[in-house]
Parts: sequence; structure tokens; C-alpha cells
Amino acid sequence: MKANYPSTTLMTGSTGFLGNFVLRDLLNRGRRVVAVLRAPLAERRERLLKVLEEIGLDVRGCVISGQLVLVEGSLPDNLPAPTWGRTDGILHNAASLELFTNGDPQGDPYRTNVEGAKAVTAWADRHGVSDILAVSTAYTCGWNSGVIPETFHEPQPRFQTDYEKSKWLAEILFHQWSQQPGRTLTIFRPSFLVGDSQTGYTTQFAGFYQFARLVGVLKQQYHEPGNGRSTYIPLRIPGKGDDVQNVAPVDFVSRMIAEIAVRPEYHGRIYHLTNPQPPTNDLFKRCYEEYFGLHGGFFAPADEVVGQCTPAESLLWDQYHLLTPRVVHTPRFDTSNTQRVMQKLGIAFPVLDRDRILMLLDWAAARNWGRNTGGRKLDPARLVHSRRSRSEEIEKNKP
Ligand SMILES: NC(=O)c1ccc[n+]([C@@H]2O[C@H](COP(=O)([O-])OP(=O)(O)OC[C@H]3O[C@@H](n4cnc5c(N)ncnc54)[C@H](OP(=O)(O)O)[C@@H]3O)[C@@H](O)[C@H]2O)c1
Repeated sequence: MKANYPSTTLMTGSTGFLGNFVLRDLLNRGRRVVAVLRAPLAERRERLLKVLEEIGLDVRGCVISGQLVLVEGSLPDNLPAPTWGRTDGILHNAASLELFTNGDPQGDPYRTNVEGAKAVTAWADRHGVSDILAVSTAYTCGWNSGVIPETFHEPQPRFQTDYEKSKWLAEILFHQWSQQPGRTLTIFRPSFLVGDSQTGYTTQFAGFYQFARLVGVLKQQYHEPGNGRSTYIPLRIPGKGDDVQNVAPVDFVSRMIAEIAVRPEYHGRIYHLTNPQPPTNDLFKRCYEEYFGLHGGFFAPADEVVGQCTPAESLLWDQYHLLTPRVVHTPRFDTSNTQRVMQKLGIAFPVLDRDRILMLLDWAAARNWGRNTGGRKLDPARLVHSRRSRSEEIEKNKP
């Protein structure tokens, strides 16, 4: 039997880390979703159904009832024809998370993120869709500092990575599209995502997890059995103890996206889906020390550490190129639009305190930091490329 659903959302990127949670939350709110999956469809479909079940929703019934329609397509060239009937809105969540181009300025991340955004707006125009919700990133602010507003960042900021620039270019394209009367654009800007705040579940093991894994390696290398549980490793940590790292649990971000998506009265704004009380570097340091059994780290000016590391420091800071600039550049995000919706709907931010950070670490460590678990892994080629080019790129892009 085919149920009648009030609204249909075309969604990209539902097979990704955030997309899995957003799809679950949209379906739980009764939304009909047409999810665009890359080929091979059968393989992506099976993985999607498995992950959704792991995060608490058996969607086979939704597929049978027609609440969830799975179609093949990809960006930028292969969005599907609307064989499912009317589309009320597009939730564009797909992106390439490549930090830098591989020397090809037409390649990723630009191809998926910028050409993909053009393709989404063209598809909307072709099929009479006037409501686009796009997932961006809080770091379209680039090197801008101070309080980052929930507005478009113009003039163009200086960026740390091609990824940030590609997401900024996409925002501007969507903004231009929305200037025609009758069109509505909503932009979601999450900061760094970590696992589910209640369970720890994640399928993405970059950033926070990648760093934690390196701390674990450091411990293994310097641990002397017989010297007690806590290993003394004196090393400098670039940055200040009271600087913050803006990480946000994936379930909070997905819930906000879904709640706003199903309520047109909240569309048409930019939302910073960031942590209103981000953990300090010092809290992270204490959690890592406690979890892995270490002491001896101390904060030092970044320019005294990066590039002039001891062997122990090298393990963390030479290989941890991917997040080093974010350790030393920590803007604050205005969240007025987001707070208004949270207050209206009675949503609280799940504070990342010691217990929650240890729970996230524990969940990921038990899955061997995403290795051998079928989680979404970083492409090793991408890592090698990023490592090689990272220092040059950061230097070049510094303000
Ligand atoms: N993760 C974070 O910390 C973070 C922070 C801020 C903002 N965001 C934003 O949040 C969104 C989701 O990110 P995520 O972390 O969930 O990324 P992810 O796990 O890498 O997922 C990316 C999704 O996009 C799809 N995709 C990639 N290239 C595509 C293409 N050319 N055509 C069609 N689909 C394509 C992927 O499909 P396949 O499954 O087929 O690969 C997947 O569904 C992105 O817009 C990202 O910029 C993420």
C-alpha cells in the first residue's frame, strides 16, 4: 500500500557519515526522502540499510512503503530524472572532503563541491524546485577570526585548504541562485563532527580520532613496562591550553538539520551548527592523558614547535598536518539563528565534557580506530598527498 507523504525531499550524500544520521532523522519525522546513491546502487543500498539499522532505524519498511526511494545518480553530471513525482525541496549534503586538489584544479574537491552545487541549482530550476537546503562547513570563514557571523562571508576570505574554498564557492553559487524571487536557501554550517553523543557511534575516523590514534602510538612507543601505567613523555603542544576546538556530535547536527528541514518557517537562514561550549585544548589534553596513560605534555607557541620537533613531538605534529592549523586558529561562531530554533524546540546541546570525550575515545578504540571495521576510511593516497603538500600549503595560505 502506498502511503501519502506531505512532502518529498531529494537528498544527496545520504551514504556518508552525517548523511546517514540526517536520513534517519528525516524518516523518523515522516518525511518522504528520495536518496541519490552513487553506483553501484545495490552495493550502496545494502551498506546504507545496514548502517541505518546500526543507528536505530530499520528502513526496509520505508523502502517498501515508498517513504524512502533510492535512486542512482552522482555529481556533477548524473543527477536522476524525477521518476518519483513531485519534489518539494532539495537537501544537498554530498561533498568531497579532499582537503587539497591533486594538482588538477578541475578535480575534487572543486568538481563535486562547486560543479556539484551548479548541477543541483540547475536540477532545481529544471524541475520547479524553489527550496534548497545545503550543508556547508563552519570553516568557509577561512582564516577570518573574531566572532564569525551567520551570514555569507564577503569579501572572499583566505582559506587554509581547497576544501574550504570549494565549500565557500558553493555557498556563493547557492546565494546567487537564491536571489531570484520565490526561492529559498538554507545553509547549515557544522564544525568538526565527532560520533553520536549518546552511543559514540561513528563511521568517520578522521580529525579527533586520527589524532587520538597517534597519541596511542606515542604511548606504545615510549611505554616502559614496569614504570607504572602513566608514561612520562615531555613534549610541546602547539597552541594555548584555553583555546578551544570546535567539535560537535553528529546526532546534534543531524537533528538540527532534520528539525529545520521539516519546518519551512525556519528556512532561508544560515545556521552555525557548532559547539556553543567547545572543549578547550587543556580538556582534550587531560582526556588523552587519562585515556592513554600519559603525562609530560605542555603548551608552547605554535611557531616554536611546528617544523622544530623532537622525535616524540614529530610523531604527533609532523604527521598531524591535517588539523594543525585548526589547533592554532580557533574562531568563535555566532549561533543566534541556531539558538533561536533550539529554544523554540527545546533542544539542548550535548556538552562534550570529560565523560563524553572518554566515551567517544573508547567507542572508536574498541573499533580499532576504523581499521578493519568497514568504516569510511581516509584514502591512503589522499593522506600521502596531504602530508607532502601540507606544510607548503599552510605556509602559502597563512594571512
Ligand atoms: N565530517 C565533518 O567533520 C564535516 C564538518 C563540517 C561540514 N561537513 C559537511 O557535511 C557534509 C557531509 O559530510 P560527511 O562528513 O558526512 O562526508 P562523507 O562521510 O565523506 O560523505 C560524503 C557523502 O557525499 C557523497 N558524495 C561524494 N562525492 C559525490 C559525488 N561526486 N556525487 C554524489 N555523491 C557524492 C558520498 O557518497 P559515497 O558514499 O558514494 O562516497 C557520501 O554520501 C558535507 O557537505 C561536508 O562538507 C562535514
